[in-house]
Amino acid sequence: MKYLTFALTKGRLANKTLELLEQVGIRCEEMYTDTRKLVFTDEQMGVKFFLAKATDVPTYVEYGAADIGVVGKDVLMEEKKDLFEVLDLGFGRCRMAVAGFPSGRELLDMRGDFKVATKYPEIARHYFLTRHQQPEILKLNGSIELAPIVGLSDVIVDIVETGSTLKENGLMVLDEICPISARMVVNKASMKIELERIQKLTRAVSTILKQKERETRA
Ligand code: PRP
Repeated sequence: MKYLTFALTKGRLANKTLELLEQVGIRCEEMYTDTRKLVFTDEQMGVKFFLAKATDVPTYVEYGAADIGVVGKDVLMEEKKDLFEVLDLGFGRCRMAVAGFPSGRELLDMRGDFKVATKYPEIARHYFLTRHQQPEILKLNGSIELAPIVGLSDVIVDIVETGSTLKENGLMVLDEICPISARMVVNKASMKIELERIQKLTRAVSTILKQKERETRA
């Protein structure tokens, strides 16, 4: 049997994904051992797992190095890779937003010649184009909230989870772009070749997710 290979986003998303997969009977023992290994195999299950940086997961899946990936919608929107997005896993929830000082709201409504700092230049460009604005977009790699504070940009486009980073720095959400959560993605060729196994997996995961949703509503 060919291995079904999973590329997971390192960190919290990977842990949540492993928990979820365990609930549908997929467990890779080797992942729980203290090792420097990069790829983990479970012969019995016929699965392989590896952990990658979020922004790299769509590339591994698009090129078939992984059949299945789990990554945030923010990364999928930014990377725009050719793959199938099959499931919203419901965890890793946050919002993509425009944020800044309260005075930034006026600036956003009035002008197009402002500066935006972000880790997500494609998402930012697309959002402002829908508003017929073409601000200067500055790509940063982290601590985006710093940009308006030190005068590098007027506003930022970034993910907001609890909102505490914004609040503690005197910043606020000026506009919400879209909700974000973890998604399961599938390589296009794998979807044909491994259709049966992948469908079995997505159906099982989807049943668990619906069950969880019912439990939280009750
Ligand atoms: C993310 C994001 C915000 C923060 C939002 O940064 O870029 O800075 O989390 O979370 P909050 O609304 O709960 O405060 P991350 O921690 O991933 O690190 P980074 O600053 O290096 O991007």
